[in-house]
Amino acid sequence: MATSKFFRAVVLTGMLSAMSSFAYAKTCSVTIAGNDQMQFDKTAIPIAADCTEVELTLKHSGKLPVTAMGHNWVLTKTADFQPVATAGTSAGPANSYVPKDDKRVIAHTKLVGGGESTTIKFPTSKLTKGGDYTFFCSFPGHWSLMKGKLAFGS
Ligand code: CO
Repeated sequence: MATSKFFRAVVLTGMLSAMSSFAYAKTCSVTIAGNDQMQFDKTAIPIAADCTEVELTLKHSGKLPVTAMGHNWVLTKTADFQPVATAGTSAGPANSYVPKDDKRVIAHTKLVGGGESTTIKFPTSKLTKGGDYTFFCSFPGHWSLMKGKLAFGS
């Protein structure tokens, strides 16, 4: 039957396009924790080359409140890290110590205190494979200790 052959072809085409869109969308999950000793539990975050999106969860494994030992996770190019960290201090607690509408900020979470966690997603289209990226906590005084490198596809 010509008609059923046609419909089978339509269904098959639909399945193939669904399968190819699965192949090209891959969310990669990362969890990082900050503690009351002003430390992240990771200094390197590798993101595989085939990830199209990063789902990052920041956990505060300590007990201190956000005002005393707040942590966030901010991602910039390594060249932008110190200037953005300084701008973050000026931006103040109302902005979670992240400079507002600053294009140098590739991604960032909100600030969390002891026992809290937060999750963000961002597309890897914001990253260049093999680029030099630094993540850090922009809470004043934390970024000299709480920092590491994020590597995409390398
Ligand atoms: Co911090």
